[in-house]
Amino acid sequence: MYNRRAFVGAGISLFAAGLHAANDKKTIQGFDENFAGKLSSTKWEPFSDRKVRVGIAGEGVCSFGSSFAYQSHPNVEVVACTDLDPARCKLLQQRVNAQKTYPSCEDMIKHAAEDKLEAVYIATDAASHIKLAIMALEHGLHVASAVPALLGKDQLDLVPRLVSAAKKSGKIYMMNETTAFRPECVAMRNLYESGCLGEHLYSEGEYFHFSGKEGIPSYNNWRLGLPPQYYPTHSNGFYTCVTHGRFTDVSCIGLKSSRPQYQPENNPYANPYDSEVALFKTSDGGTSRMAVMWGTPGYGGEIGRFHGTKGSYVETRKDPFWGLDMEAAAKVNVLKHPLPPNVPAGGHGGSHAYLTDDFLRGILLKDHKVCVDLKTALDTTVSGIYAHLSAMKGGEWLKVPECV
Ligand SMILES: NC(=O)c1ccc[n+]([C@@H]2O[C@H](COP(=O)([O-])OP(=O)(O)OC[C@H]3O[C@@H](n4cnc5c(N)ncnc54)[C@H](O)[C@@H]3O)[C@@H](O)[C@H]2O)c1
Repeated sequence: MYNRRAFVGAGISLFAAGLHAANDKKTIQGFDENFAGKLSSTKWEPFSDRKVRVGIAGEGVCSFGSSFAYQSHPNVEVVACTDLDPARCKLLQQRVNAQKTYPSCEDMIKHAAEDKLEAVYIATDAASHIKLAIMALEHGLHVASAVPALLGKDQLDLVPRLVSAAKKSGKIYMMNETTAFRPECVAMRNLYESGCLGEHLYSEGEYFHFSGKEGIPSYNNWRLGLPPQYYPTHSNGFYTCVTHGRFTDVSCIGLKSSRPQYQPENNPYANPYDSEVALFKTSDGGTSRMAVMWGTPGYGGEIGRFHGTKGSYVETRKDPFWGLDMEAAAKVNVLKHPLPPNVPAGGHGGSHAYLTDDFLRGILLKDHKVCVDLKTALDTTVSGIYAHLSAMKGGEWLKVPECV
């Protein structure tokens, strides 16, 4: 099921198929960024003594099922896990200490009632997220889904079903957008919410990830020649996960590639681009420039900047925030809270376990709103799909639909 040709050519030392790659997450961009940032205190404050019964699906090339600290968080009991590949399923079970395994996520969801499952974490291939999320919500489960919420224009018709399943169930749906809990995004969000940045004027987000001559392998080749803006969440998050506003219109430029997988006849998306730069209008009257750049080697990163009417946050500067009211800003907590003892923050800016912690707080605390909820997940993902459609029309301005 994995694309062996892609393994051989990948510039990320993925030298063999299957489990070797699942063991080799150290070489994939983002996994080495496991510094959570300076914390607001050294003491973890427990928020509940209850354990949520969780099922985990997917231990692919990024080992995402086991990388989000469910196995070490004090408010979780990992009841079950699954991967279609039996060897990966076993590996996942060992890594997360799951009590039982299922041959598929669908099977795990069908048995949710008998296992008294309350929540699932879906870390399967991008193309399967939305269908599995709908099924889990329809079975009364809370859902945390890896990014993106859905994959490409062919899945847009599933969006109303996801929205209605979430509304009917009353359960939490959240997307694990790692940008949301990077230290700099947390700081931007807190400064924005406190009013210290003022109104949003302009923001930028960039996802640079050159993945070798032939790219990173993936289940059923979902990554093969993927349109960059079908994977827009790490850049778009620098607006949507700061303001919780949405993109209303988009014009996007696509950059052609000489790499074989980005020739339209060589990929399932008929996609000719390996980099796409989108200009958005935002619901607050501002604008954002969001780039997904997979065609330029030598520099990797997920970074962003935010400019408002009262201040700016530019993460690469020594003092990233500058504003009109520095005294008020000094009183804003811009730091992440500590995690429970022995819970590693994880990769992508020390964001993994914070997403898990946010999900658990959403389930266990009456008044806690998760950061990347259904609305923000869809606003962050669907806008990218329209960006790619715009690029395919030579940059034509398109309206981005409001999903929730
Ligand atoms: N920074 C980030 O947020 C970030 C980084 C890396 C990966 N991801 C996301 O994490 C997810 C996993 O990435 P990956 O590279 O490991 O994917 P992958 O394609 O390598 O693996 C997907 C795995 O899911 C399993 N699977 C598919 N359908 C299933 C089903 N119905 N039931 C059980 N198992 C099923 C497959 O057997 C496979 O092992 C992707 O959605 C990706 O977009 C996010």
